[in-house]
Amino acid sequence: MNRNIALITGVTGQDGSYLSEFLLSKGYEVHGIIRRSSVDYRERIAHLEGTPNFHLHYADMSDSMSLVKLVGKVQPTEIYNLAAQSHVQVSFDAPEFTADVDAVGVLRILEAVRTNHLENSCKIYQASTSELYGKVEEVPQNENTPFHPYSPYAVAKLYGYWIIKEYREAYNMFCCSGILFNHESERRGETFVTRKITLAAARISQGKQECLYLGNLDSLRDWGYAKDYVECMWLILQHDKPEDFVIATGVQHTVREFATLAFHHAGIELRWEGEGINEKGIVASVADEANAHLVGKTVVAVSEDFYRPTDVVNLWGDPTKAKAKLGWNPQTTSFEQLVELMVAHDMKKVAADTAASEIRKTNLAEYLEKGIVK
Ligand code: NAP
Ligand code: GDD
Repeated sequence: MNRNIALITGVTGQDGSYLSEFLLSKGYEVHGIIRRSSVDYRERIAHLEGTPNFHLHYADMSDSMSLVKLVGKVQPTEIYNLAAQSHVQVSFDAPEFTADVDAVGVLRILEAVRTNHLENSCKIYQASTSELYGKVEEVPQNENTPFHPYSPYAVAKLYGYWIIKEYREAYNMFCCSGILFNHESERRGETFVTRKITLAAARISQGKQECLYLGNLDSLRDWGYAKDYVECMWLILQHDKPEDFVIATGVQHTVREFATLAFHHAGIELRWEGEGINEKGIVASVADEANAHLVGKTVVAVSEDFYRPTDVVNLWGDPTKAKAKLGWNPQTTSFEQLVELMVAHDMKKVAADTAASEIRKTNLAEYLEKGIVK
């Protein structure tokens, strides 16, 4: 019997953890790449460790030999290349590292497959991104929209996109890009804007933070739920031929709208005053009498620290092809449901944080407030 063996790079990340659960539920043997760190921070996959079909291996996207050896050992039938320095703002501070992992890393995976003579048996999924559209040349964006990358991260990802296409054409390999628009969840990294907002709304409503500092409130994103999106990664590799797909909800919202709704679910109604750097989110009313002292207070302010040298401000995806060819439903989880489930999770998390972890969280909140951690 043919076995399905998946190798996931980026298994400890938001998407890697959901994809592992999804593939295990389909009977796959799942192997994931982890890297050495001074603390074992594998919170998102801790519940999977010890599962019979789930295996972790040390390797690194910047270490060719480790990838060649691992691909040879695991003999995967599918590789999901999710590993990346995935934070756009950080890519301005660490552009070379971002290029090494996000661009050349893709090449290393492709060459590891070829070196092990698996090019006819192993399919490859590449985590491409809506950031490729960058300084957008049309709205909404589909598979034919021209790319205009607008950050070191996006430029690195553009190389990944093209090298996947090149190996597909040059060596007839089954390798594809999923051009995924922003997808969020209760497992989203805490410095991406959505999670930063839902955690801050929960902390402010529970008296553990005073103010949330954000950058560009007008930025528009097409936000979906990560759990829905990992199914698409798999569907792309089950399609009869290798093709690239845009994965998005087809609905756009501003950062301001996300914040307004998140605070609403945390029991705080906001009104907005001022413009640009002077804009503020002020508490108009509260659901819980215990928070009456917050009325009239500024709980959201704008800080230049969170502005980017070049920012992508109008992402809006057209998922028509994925709907038609993969039978994927982009509306499984709506924007409203996404915000609600993230806030519900973070309200519980903040309430349950022990005194010890609270000290760290408080420090992190303070760092975020002061703009030290982006
Ligand atoms: P994430 O939570 O930041 O996870 C990134 C993963 O990459 C982590 O497991 C990280 O490992 C790993 N990684 C980073 N550098 C590595 C290296 N040198 N060697 C090995 N592993 C390394 O990202 P995500 O949100 O799950 O996104 C998954 C992928 O999709 C990324 O490629 C991202 O660029 C892309 N993408 C994401 C979105 C989105 O909205 N989430 C949209 C489009 C595309 P550690 O845990 O050890 O740091
Ligand atoms: N992170 C962050 N922090 N972003 C802020 C803030 C803030 O305080 N204030 C406003 N923003 C704006 C950013 O300027 C950007 O326009 C938007 O909110 C979204 O920022 P992020 O949540 O950091 O995500 P991203 O869109 O830059 O990148 C994510 O999505 C890409 C797909 O489009 C990442 O997951 C990338 O890896 C992914 O490729």
